[in-house]
Amino acid sequence: MKFFVDTADTDAIRDLNNLGMVDGVTTNPSLIMKSGRDIKEVTKEICDMIPGPVSAETVALDADGMIAEGRELAKIADNITIKVPLTWDGLKACKVLSGEGRMVNVTLCFSANQALLAAKAGATFISPFIGRLDDINLDGMELISDIREIYDNYGYETQILAASIRTVNHMTDAARIGADVATAPPDVIRKMASHPLTDKGLEGFLKDWEKTGQKILS
Ligand code: G3P
Repeated sequence: MKFFVDTADTDAIRDLNNLGMVDGVTTNPSLIMKSGRDIKEVTKEICDMIPGPVSAETVALDADGMIAEGRELAKIADNITIKVPLTWDGLKACKVLSGEGRMVNVTLCFSANQALLAAKAGATFISPFIGRLDDINLDGMELISDIREIYDNYGYETQILAASIRTVNHMTDAARIGADVATAPPDVIRKMASHPLTDKGLEGFLKDWEKTGQKILS
């Protein structure tokens, strides 16, 4: 499973990228707002750092507006993925922009039918929002599973990009189901390394090591 980082915080992206954990980046208007930076400037900085797909989201509501904004965002760098919402106009924009050979991420997907339409419109990525479904007592992971089954039934090449990931268990479950990509906040990726038994085991080893009086480096 590819790891995308869901943030516009360039320090956090750099930190994870130094460990080889970043295959791509996703941003959205809320994340740009959180960064406090200009969308083009911060997105360019991210694209210069990460060679993989970097999603930048349009904000127009009509297809023509999304297409114009998408083309403008695509000028930032070759690895820009244009993000459009899963509305009828978003699907129209997806069809046009993907027809121009651009990568398109169709976002705010909450049903298998929406994902089916995005694949038919030529989406490079479909972004089902797991956490927001869980928030309203639905099962976000069941959606990932349904989309995986449907895409596999027909050989759609659209990649499933599990989004709105909130917990480390979301990462495990998305990987088990076979999501192509998971985009997660930096903290969730860092937490994947933690285990209380690792900490406890390390503590025990170090206590015993101290008793030997030895040093590895002299
Ligand atoms: O990738 C989509 C993500 O940014 C939304 O996450 O936690 O706001 O639902 P969240």
